[in-house]
Amino acid sequence: MDKLQVVGGKRLEGEIVISGAKNAALPILCAGLLTSGDLELSNVPRLHDVKTILKLLAQTGLTVSQDDERVTLNGSAITTLEAPYELVKTMRASILVLGPLLARFGEAKVSLPGGCAIGSRPVDQHIKGLRALGAEITIEGGYIYAKCKKLKGARIRTDMITVTGTENLLMAATLAEGETVLENAAREPEVTDLANLLVAMGAKIEGIGTDRLVIQGVAELHGARHAVISDRIEAATFLCAVAATGGDILLKNTRTDYFDVALDKLREIGLVMTMGPASIRAQMGGRPKPVSFRTTEYPGFPTDMQAQFMAVNTIASGASRITETIFENRFMHVQEMNRLGASIQTEGNTAHVKGVDRLVGAPVMATDLRASASLVIAAMAAQGTTIIDRIYHLDRGYDRMEVKLSAVGANIVRIK
Ligand code: EPU
Repeated sequence: MDKLQVVGGKRLEGEIVISGAKNAALPILCAGLLTSGDLELSNVPRLHDVKTILKLLAQTGLTVSQDDERVTLNGSAITTLEAPYELVKTMRASILVLGPLLARFGEAKVSLPGGCAIGSRPVDQHIKGLRALGAEITIEGGYIYAKCKKLKGARIRTDMITVTGTENLLMAATLAEGETVLENAAREPEVTDLANLLVAMGAKIEGIGTDRLVIQGVAELHGARHAVISDRIEAATFLCAVAATGGDILLKNTRTDYFDVALDKLREIGLVMTMGPASIRAQMGGRPKPVSFRTTEYPGFPTDMQAQFMAVNTIASGASRITETIFENRFMHVQEMNRLGASIQTEGNTAHVKGVDRLVGAPVMATDLRASASLVIAAMAAQGTTIIDRIYHLDRGYDRMEVKLSAVGANIVRIK
């Protein structure tokens, strides 16, 4: 298993090109199942999760051709309407094939995703919504069996805001008969990117970017070209890194309009940012100031940035309070940061962080994707050497993070 060795205390300086967004690319690739036409995608990030979803899609009969960050899909010869446990267990986003397969072929068999390090993460809302669209769904032997003659439009209000739930139902509704109204829909920029692609494929969707999506079903969708939006979580991760280490970096291929409250929090920390049309220059001198926040759905503070901001808070000039409201178990990085000398105490879903003068390198273990990224940040801010184990989590969702960071001055190497 690969590890990362990080020697802390280096200032970051230089340019980093941000990759395409993982959480936009995954549903967008699954949309390839909705049409027999060619889907030509660009800015697809080079990630392990993308490899996994392409493997899953290829075993349905979808043709995949890939040239670096360009992927072309063709769904004219799909033969297998199934997502097996072996693939789904490694990546929960595999559930995103359920809506498209059912809508286009009237049938799907998808393994139930199992537990997850950050929370129980059920898919009951995906199932509830598809049943409302007329699907007959049974669960047996760990699999979801879904069938329908033709999905029929319906008004669906999910019990909570769910990102992949909204995406699954949105894709299904594009090919349903009549009108579907998705209320309480997720508004994340990644959902909007998927909706924009679906419109380019011929779908009729109103209310894009709002919590009420109105879809008029069409008989079929056609091929399209689309560039995946850039990854706001990756960009924010690098901004947290420079906030923790000090320095001057330029993020390229990014946007500035979809960071929700994260940019305000970075300014509160003391990061000076200059926005370009597709770039952010970030400069940091001195010690970070502490920031308190509570994670919520978009446009609130994203749960996917919680751990990275906590890493900055560990060395801030005061105390902060972080409340996680989306996932019930997303503080696994706390114990690892405390091993580096941080002072964090948790109380239910709230973490109380007292900024310390310095962190000191130690062996730590990555537990999930964003926790891994937060440990890289903490390690870069620490004195001495940190070895981060189990970095396969990091490779699932960051495109060669250690290469991008060493190019701007970090002392970070992969140990095979
Ligand atoms: N939930 C249910 N039932 C459902 C669906 C969701 O109870 O049927 C609950 C979840 O357990 C959770 C909350 O609703 O407590 C929100 O979960 P959501 O469905 O929005 O999460 P997701 O769609 O499974 C996506 C991202 C996550 C990100 C969350 C929240 C993808 C592929 N994944 O997950 O990304 O944290 O939304 O923004 O889009 C990551 O990239 O590290 C990551 C975990």
